[in-house]
Amino acid sequence: MDPQQTTTPELSELLEGRQRILVTGGAGFIGGAVVRRLLRESTATVFNVDKMSYASDLSSIEGVLKEAGQASEDRHHLLKVDLTDAEALAAAVRQADPDLVMHLAAESHVDRSIEGPGDFIASNVTGTFHLLQAIRGHWDRLSDERKKQFRLHHISTDEVFGSLGDVGRFSETTPYDPRSPYSASKAASDHLVSAWHHTYGLPVVLTNCSNNYGPWQFPEKLIPVVILKAVAGEPIPLYGDGANVRDWLYVEDHVDALLLAATKGGLGHSYCIGGYGERTNKQVVEAICHLLDKLIPSKSAHSSLITPVTDRPGHDRRYAIDPTKISEELGWTSSHSFEKGLKSTVKWFLKNHSWCKKVRERANYQGSRLGIAGHGLLQAQNS
Ligand code: NAD
Ligand code: TYD
Repeated sequence: MDPQQTTTPELSELLEGRQRILVTGGAGFIGGAVVRRLLRESTATVFNVDKMSYASDLSSIEGVLKEAGQASEDRHHLLKVDLTDAEALAAAVRQADPDLVMHLAAESHVDRSIEGPGDFIASNVTGTFHLLQAIRGHWDRLSDERKKQFRLHHISTDEVFGSLGDVGRFSETTPYDPRSPYSASKAASDHLVSAWHHTYGLPVVLTNCSNNYGPWQFPEKLIPVVILKAVAGEPIPLYGDGANVRDWLYVEDHVDALLLAATKGGLGHSYCIGGYGERTNKQVVEAICHLLDKLIPSKSAHSSLITPVTDRPGHDRRYAIDPTKISEELGWTSSHSFEKGLKSTVKWFLKNHSWCKKVRERANYQGSRLGIAGHGLLQAQNS
């Protein structure tokens, strides 16, 4: 089997006749994986609402459409809309006339949220508010039969729960305690979605997932940054003492969980998604370096490039997910071990170096440290 793909049991069956699916943020990393899965494994038409930001790219979706031939071309519609534009968004929703909405559009990088929180409030909070209002209007217009099947699935992060100590895991009952502008904006959007369910009866499902990794991730997040720095022979920045823990999940495992939750999740319920993939950042960086030593040997070990740098402001110490609810209620488990997922991810980035170069150039981002605004000492150290 293609290591990038896992099998969601009978996607067309899960969709139960839902043929018009609106995905927000479908030109991003996780949204793109959702769109590709829908195009490959169902007959649904996808309406991809995305503002096409620095983090967006359609190469992977265009590849799938090309593979599938002309017949599938009409199954993907890019609606280039910014969620902050309420009128344009309402028009896009009317055009899509969806049976299911999967809401992934968001500004997603913590370091950028430290540098410029305003975009995060606009897209993640105001954007979600506009989407909820547009979907309320749509839901009111639906026939009773379509109403029964309609759902809005809001995709969120475990970062809304804050930071763990050495023990314990986040679950659906963990109190919210966001600490970065990014996680605070996502927490706010979760609360809005929940409020629209309780107040207006909107049929919603929420999911909170741990850190994703895999092919097509914009090279500003830890794993692609480390691969690209190591390949270029540049210092690999490890924030603080490198002992912060993230719970890594391969993106295709996340897509499996999302499609189950979107179609089978209880209305008004939330589900925590994670695959017991806890690693310290130091372990992740060293694992990548060891893989690269084997795949592209160089005179000195790649780990010699690892460079401790001053910590991220407000750096959450540890994230870990207890996935019992989604496992027991919906039968989801992850199918990629971290070792297997990381190996195929590293190989993918080596093979797709030209894609990384293209998207970084387009975004005018060459891999410099982000999120240190106002930290003069750190800037001096890194220059
Ligand atoms: P990404 O940054 O790769 O992609 C986000 C997409 O949303 C981009 O294409 C961007 O253009 C679009 N977008 C942003 N603001 C928009 C706006 N105002 N209007 C229209 N489109 C807009 O992000 P990702 O990593 O694919 O994350 C997708 C979702 O999953 C986010 O909601 C994120 O909070 C959540 N999530 C991410 C992770 C992770 O590890 N990446 C983990 C858990 C949850
Ligand atoms: P990141 O991929 O930005 O995800 P998040 O902040 O949403 O968890 O970072 C993952 C971890 O890696 C986080 O603890 C910060 C750390 N990190 C580094 O040590 N070096 C880097 O260059 C980056 C981008 C992140």
